Amino acid sequence: MPFDRYNRNIDYLRISLTDACNLRCVYCMPEQMTFRPRDELLSDGELRRLIGLFGAVGFRKIRFTGGEPTLRSSLVDLVRHATQTPGIEAVGLTTNGVLLDKLAAPLREAGLRSVNISLDTLDPEKFRRITRWGKLDAVLAGLDAAAQAGLRVKLNAVVSRGTNDREDVVALARYTLDQPWQVRFIEQMPFGNNAEFQKRSMVDEAELRDVLTAAYGPLELVNNGRLDGEARLYRIAGAPGCLGFISPVTKPFCADCNRLRLTADGVLRLCLLRDNEVDLRPLLRGGAGDDEITVAIRQAVFEKPWGHGLEQHLIPATRGMSEIGG
Ligand code: 5AD
Ligand code: SF4
Repeated sequence: MPFDRYNRNIDYLRISLTDACNLRCVYCMPEQMTFRPRDELLSDGELRRLIGLFGAVGFRKIRFTGGEPTLRSSLVDLVRHATQTPGIEAVGLTTNGVLLDKLAAPLREAGLRSVNISLDTLDPEKFRRITRWGKLDAVLAGLDAAAQAGLRVKLNAVVSRGTNDREDVVALARYTLDQPWQVRFIEQMPFGNNAEFQKRSMVDEAELRDVLTAAYGPLELVNNGRLDGEARLYRIAGAPGCLGFISPVTKPFCADCNRLRLTADGVLRLCLLRDNEVDLRPLLRGGAGDDEITVAIRQAVFEKPWGHGLEQHLIPATRGMSEIGG
């Protein structure tokens, strides 16, 4: 089992399948974003090999992210491969939902059990503004298809002041009144060039809980406050679904961190908010054997930094969220 030097059990790998996206959320990337050339991205064969090696090292959970992972045409096959890999017990997907309508059923058939859909507002006009050109209807169709296919659904909303910090939050939370879904609100994190804007417009968990309490009455803490992944869960009285708060800025969960991230170009990123990296691509392309790659993976786990440095004003500079994979 892989433990880091702080004795955290690192058994969860998030894999970015592409840095490209079919949206351009304003807090995530500029409209004129450029993406990596295809040959810099890991091939399907390279990904399959790494997934096998991570399973053998003791990783138990894999999540496919992006950019937008549904843009990768081999997504369903990769999900099937991951769910069949010895050692891997859970496979997840984080998507903006735009292409999920047609993919939900095949993904479920390939062994996917749950999906996280990013959705910041239920207002079509605002959705278009946030994503620069996205159509809310496509995401809602994707959400529907996911629920129909029997996937467990979590919605993720990044909350930004003056954009979606009031009625949008209340409207998204309403889903939990009649669906068994988790609706999660994420504190916006600062990255690279965008950091000042992101810091200024971050809305913290405490404020959001006040907004939701004013709308729905007292929220009940679920599981005594034990984190579900990175989310603290609450419930509106009597609701089948849960509200989740992911608060990396005001309530860092670094002590419980169990993850590494693999970027689409084959770099292990040891912490979302720090620039420490271990590049696996030269090994993969330089003829390294499984043993050598396994040693590199174990070494990366060991070197995982303790936590982020936001309080010391350390902000990741080399890659934005869409290049790391959430
Ligand atoms: N802070 C927090 N979450 C972010 N996401 C993108 N940028 C940020 C940020 N700066 C979210 C997306 C999606 C997930 C992959 O990451 O909205 O839910
Ligand atoms: Fe694409 Fe997600 Fe970034 Fe929006 S937040 S541009 S959907 S990667």
